[in-house]
Amino acid sequence: MFHAPAADRFPQFPVSWYLFGASQELRRPVSRDLLGRRLVAFRTSAGTLAVLDARCSHLGCDLGNGCVQGENIQCPFHHWEYGSDGRCKHIPGTRELPPWARQASYPCVERNGFVFFFYGVEPLFPLPFFTEPDRLIAAKSFTSTLKCPWYMVGANAFDFQHLRAAHDRRLVATPFVDCPAPFARRSIARMTVAGNSLRDRLTRRFAGAEVEMTTTYWGGTLMFVTARFRRTTSYGMVDLQPLDDGGTRVRTTVFVRQSEGVLGQWLVDPVNLGLRRYFIRKFLQADAEFLTDSRYSSQTLIETDRELNEFFHWVVDLPQTAKEHGAQQMADGNGHCRPHGSLCEGQTP
Ligand code: FES
Ligand SMILES: [Fe+2]
Repeated sequence: MFHAPAADRFPQFPVSWYLFGASQELRRPVSRDLLGRRLVAFRTSAGTLAVLDARCSHLGCDLGNGCVQGENIQCPFHHWEYGSDGRCKHIPGTRELPPWARQASYPCVERNGFVFFFYGVEPLFPLPFFTEPDRLIAAKSFTSTLKCPWYMVGANAFDFQHLRAAHDRRLVATPFVDCPAPFARRSIARMTVAGNSLRDRLTRRFAGAEVEMTTTYWGGTLMFVTARFRRTTSYGMVDLQPLDDGGTRVRTTVFVRQSEGVLGQWLVDPVNLGLRRYFIRKFLQADAEFLTDSRYSSQTLIETDRELNEFFHWVVDLPQTAKEHGAQQMADGNGHCRPHGSLCEGQTP
C-alpha cells in the first residue's frame, strides 16, 4: 500500500493557467465566476487584452456589465474607469483617485482563438499548447461538471488500470511517464482499440487498430492530448476549473489540422471536426460517469496504482509561488522530475 498525500495538501485553486473562453466572445466585456471570484475579460480599443477581478473596488458592481472606453473598462454604476493593469484611471467629478481604487489583474494570453489567464501575479511558466507546427482549428468545446476534485480528473491520464475497464483499450506496452518541463507531467500509452461497439469498429476501420496516446498535464489545470492512429491524429485540450463546492468543471476542446485548400476548409474541416468531437465526447463519457462518483483517498492505493500515487505526489508538490519554484529548481538541479517521480528516471518511450 502507498501513502498518498493527505487530501488537505492539495490547493483549492492551483496557481496555473486557466482557459477563460473564446476570443470571439470579447466583442464586449465578459464576466464569469471562476476560481471562487468574479472575473471580467475585455479588449481595449487598441486591442490590448485584459483579465481583471470583476467586482468594482467602489461598490462592487460587475464590470462585465460595463463597457470599454478607449483603453479602459468603465463600471456601469458610477462610471469609474480601470485600465488593463487594473488601476483606476478616472472617476467622474474628482481628480483624487484613492490608492485602493484598483482591480486585481491577471496575466493573459490569446492562443488559437482562446483567451487564457494565469491565476497569479506573474506566470510561473509560459502558456503551454500543442507542439504541432501545423495550424490547428477548434470545434465547439463541450463541458461537464463533476463532483470530484480537480486532481482526480488530472489523475485519469496516469490511471492506466482504467483504460481496459472504462474505455476498452488494451495496453500493448508498458506506459511511459516523464516530466518534460517544470510544471509538466506526461504519459505515453500505446494501446489497441479492443471494444466491439460500433464506435470502436469504425475507429479500427477508419483510423487504425492501434493508438499512441500522449497526454501532457500542466500545472494541475491544462491537459493536451494527442492520439496518433495509423491513418490519423486527434488533438484534445482539456481544461479544469476547480469549483467552490469541491467539484470540477471539465471543458474539452477538440482540434484538427486545417486543410490546405479553401474547398477543404469549407467542406472537409467542419465534417472532420464534428466527427472527432462526437467520437472523443463519447470516449470521455465513461470518465465523466465514473469520476463524478469517485473520492480521493490517501490510504487505499495499492501496488497496481503506483503511477497514480506518483502523480498525486507530483501534483501536490507543484510550486504555488515563484519562491517555491526557485527553491525546487535549486533542489532538482537540471532535472524536472520531483523526488517522487521515480518513473521519470531510466525509461525511454
Ligand atoms: S460600483 Fe463601480 S463605479 Fe461605483
Ligand atoms: Fe479515461
